[in-house]
Amino acid sequence: MKKLLFCTVISAMLFLLALPAVVSSQAEQDMAKQKEFRIERSISEAGVACIQCHKQEHPGIFGDWANSRHANANITCIDCHKAEQTDPDVSKEHFQQYEKTDSQWGRKQYRVPVAGVVTPKDCSRCHPDEAEQYKRSKHANTLEIIWKIDPWLNKGMNSDFERASGCFYCHGTVLETDEEGNLTPETWPNVGVGRMNLDGSKGSCSSCHTRHRFSVMEARKPQACGQCHLGPDHPQIEIYTESKHGAIYDSFGDEYNWDAAPGTWSPGVDYRAPTCASCHMSGAGSTRTTHDVTERLSWEIQAPLTVRPSDFKAFPAKTNWEVERKKMKEICLQCHGNNWVDDHYATFDKVVEEYNEVYFKPARDLMNELYEKGLVDDEKMFDEKIEVEYYELWHHEGRRARMGAAMMAPDYTWWHGFYEVKHRYNSFMKKGRELIEHNKKAEKAPDFPNATGRTTRPEAIFGSQ
Ligand code: HEC
Ligand code: HEC
Ligand code: HEC
Ligand code: HEC
Ligand code: HEC
Ligand code: HEC
Ligand code: HEC
Ligand code: HEC
Repeated sequence: MKKLLFCTVISAMLFLLALPAVVSSQAEQDMAKQKEFRIERSISEAGVACIQCHKQEHPGIFGDWANSRHANANITCIDCHKAEQTDPDVSKEHFQQYEKTDSQWGRKQYRVPVAGVVTPKDCSRCHPDEAEQYKRSKHANTLEIIWKIDPWLNKGMNSDFERASGCFYCHGTVLETDEEGNLTPETWPNVGVGRMNLDGSKGSCSSCHTRHRFSVMEARKPQACGQCHLGPDHPQIEIYTESKHGAIYDSFGDEYNWDAAPGTWSPGVDYRAPTCASCHMSGAGSTRTTHDVTERLSWEIQAPLTVRPSDFKAFPAKTNWEVERKKMKEICLQCHGNNWVDDHYATFDKVVEEYNEVYFKPARDLMNELYEKGLVDDEKMFDEKIEVEYYELWHHEGRRARMGAAMMAPDYTWWHGFYEVKHRYNSFMKKGRELIEHNKKAEKAPDFPNATGRTTRPEAIFGSQ
C-alpha cells in the first residue's frame, strides 16, 4: 500500500513535470571527471541558474547531487532550498549572488529566496510517510527528552560551549538566527537527530542520509548509526562489530546488494547478516520499513531502571511492547528458527531482570537514603564522588551489560558490563553505608569547573515557562 502510494507520487510528479531523465547513467558513473551536465528538459531558468552557478562554485555539492536519485528524478536545488521571502531562515546574503556582473547566472531575473536549512517538513512534501514516522520517534523528540531528565542540563553542570560541541552535535541544536537573520555559530551547522528547526519541525533527515546523495545505501550501513551510537555509555557500534552479525558484515559486506530499491532490501537475498538498519528500520517479512526507531523495542535499556517503552515517563511510547517484540522477531525469523530467537530473548530478559533487581534497585535505594539524610546534597550533581559512582553504575556499565545482551556481544555483557557493575556496586555500597553509619557528609570535589550552562528549558520546545 505504502509502496503503491509512493509510486503514484513519483509518477504523478514525473508526469506533471513531463521530463526525461536528468543525467545519463553513463555520466553517473563518470564521477571523477569534470562532469558534463546537459540540461535537456524544461526546468525553470532560475533552477538552471542554481545548478550552473553552483557547479562552478561548489563542484562537491553539484557532484553529490548529480549522482543522486533526486537528480535522476529531476528534483533540483530549488525543490528543496526555495524559501518564502519572509521565512526567518531565508539567506539575505544569497541575494547578492544575483547582483554579479561576472557570471551569466548571477542575474536579477533568476533571483529566488533560498534557505540553507532543509527540514523534515521540506522533505515531507514528497516523503510524507517517512517524515510522519520520524516525527513520532525518540530521534525527533530527543531534545524534549533530555531536557526533562538530564542532570548535566538541568543542574547546569557543564558549559553551553561544552554542550554545543558535544551533546547537541548528536542530539541536535535549537536553531537560532542573529539580528541580521544569519544562523548563529552556536547552533549551526548541525545535523543532530532532534534538531529544532525554525519552521517548527524536528530533526534532520541528513543525520543518516548525508546531503546531497541522500542515499539508502549509506543509511543501511552500520557506520551511519555508529557516528552517534558509540562510546562508553551506548557502544552499539562496538557491540555490533563484536557480534557474529558484524563479523559477517566485515567479511561479506562488499557482496551485499546495498542499492536494492527502497522497501525491497531482503534478508537472505541482498544480505547474509543484518546491520543496524535491517533490525531497527528496514522491512522484512510482515514487518514494514519504519523511520520510527522506537518501534520493535520491548525495553528501555538505556534508562536507570529498565522499563517498558510505554512506561518511560519522559516520553511514553504509544506502542505495546509485545507487538513490537513480535515485529523484531519477524526480522530474526527470516534467518533463524523460533527456538534460536526465543532463547535469545529469554536470556536478554533475564539479564534485564538481574540488572534491575540485583544491582540497580539496591543502589538506587541507598542513593535516595543518602539524599534524604542530607549526607549528599542533591542541589548539584557530579560534585560528590559518590554521585559519579552511582551514575556510572547505571549509565555506563549497567547499560553496557544490557545492550551487549540485547545485541549478541558477550564481551560487552560481561567484561565491559557485569564485571564492571560488580566492582562499582561493591565500592559504591561500601562508601554509602559508611557515610550512613558515621553520619558523615560525602566528600566533595574541590573544583567543579565550567558548571555554567543555562538551566532554563528551550522555549522553542517547552513554550515560555
Ligand atoms: C551566480 C551564482 C549563484 C546562483 C545563481 C545561485 N547560487 Fe547559491 N550560492 C552561491 C554562492 C557563491 C554561495 C556561497 C556563499 C558563501 O559562501 O558565502 C551560495 C550559497 C548557497 C546556499 C547556502 C546558503 C547558506 O545560508 O548556507 C544555498 C542553500 C544555495 N546557495 C542554494 C541556491 C539555490 C537553490 C539557487 C537557485 C535558486 C542558487 N543557490 C543560486 C552562488 C549562487
Ligand atoms: C533533496 C533536497 C535537496 C536538494 C535537491 C538539494 N539540497 Fe542542498 N541541502 C539539502 C540539505 C538537507 C542540506 C543540509 C542542511 C540541513 O541539514 O538542513 C543542504 C545543504 C546545502 C548547502 C549548504 C552546505 C554547506 O556545506 O555550506 C548548499 C550550498 C546547498 N545545499 C546547495 C544546493 C545546491 C546548489 C543544490 C542543487 C545542485 C542542492 N543544494 C540540492 C537538501 C537539498
Ligand atoms: C520534490 C520532491 C522531493 C523532495 C522535496 C525530496 N525528495 Fe527525496 N525523492 C524524491 C523522489 C521522486 C525520489 C525517488 C527517486 C528514484 O527512485 O529514482 C526520492 C528518493 C529519495 C531517497 C531514496 C534514494 C535512494 O538511494 O533510493 C531518499 C533517501 C530521499 N529521497 C530523501 C530525501 C530527503 C532527506 C529529502 C529532504 C532533505 C528529500 N528526499 C526531499 C522526491 C523528493
Ligand atoms: C556521540 C553522540 C552523543 C553525544 C556527544 C551525547 N549523546 Fe546523549 N545519547 C546519544 C545516543 C546515541 C543516545 C541513545 C542511547 C540509547 O538509547 O541506547 C543518547 C542518550 C542520551 C540520554 C538518554 C535518553 C533516554 O531516552 O533515556 C540522555 C539524557 C542524553 N543522551 C543526554 C546527553 C547529554 C546531556 C550530553 C552531553 C553532556 C550527551 N547526551 C552527549 C548520543 C550522544
Ligand atoms: C536514523 C537514520 C535515518 C534518518 C534520520 C532518516 N532516514 Fe530515511 N532511511 C534510513 C534507512 C536505514 C533507510 C533504508 C530502508 C530500506 O532498507 O529500505 C531509509 C530510506 C529512506 C527512503 C527510501 C524509501 C523508504 O522508506 O525506504 C526515503 C524516501 C527516506 N529514507 C527519507 C527520509 C526522510 C524524509 C527523513 C527525515 C524525515 C529520513 N529519511 C531520515 C535511515 C534514516
Ligand atoms: C546524529 C546522531 C544519531 C544517528 C546518526 C543515529 N542515532 Fe539513533 N539515537 C540518537 C540519539 C541522540 C538517541 C536518543 C534519543 C533519546 O532517547 O532521547 C537515539 C536513539 C536511538 C534508538 C532508541 C530509541 C528508543 O525508543 O529508545 C534506536 C533504536 C536508534 N537510535 C537506532 C538508530 C539507528 C538504527 C541508526 C542508524 C540507521 C541511528 N540510530 C542513527 C542519535 C543518533
Ligand atoms: C540482530 C539485530 C540487531 C542489530 C544488527 C542491531 N540491533 Fe540494536 N537492538 C536489537 C534488539 C533485539 C534490541 C533490544 C530490543 C528490545 O528492547 O526488545 C536492540 C536495542 C537497541 C537500542 C535500544 C537501547 C535502548 O535505548 O533501549 C539501540 C539504541 C540500538 N539497538 C541501536 C543499534 C545500533 C546503532 C546498531 C548498529 C550499530 C544496532 N542496534 C544493531 C537488535 C539489533
Ligand atoms: C539476514 C539474516 C539474519 C538476521 C535477520 C538475523 N540474524 Fe542472527 N545470525 C545470522 C547468521 C548468518 C549468524 C551466524 C550463525 C553461525 O554461527 O553460523 C547469526 C548469528 C546469530 C546469533 C549467534 C551469535 C553468536 O555469537 O554465536 C544469535 C544469538 C543471533 N544471530 C540472533 C539473532 C536475533 C535475535 C535476530 C533478530 C533480532 C537475528 N539474529 C537476525 C543471520 C541473521
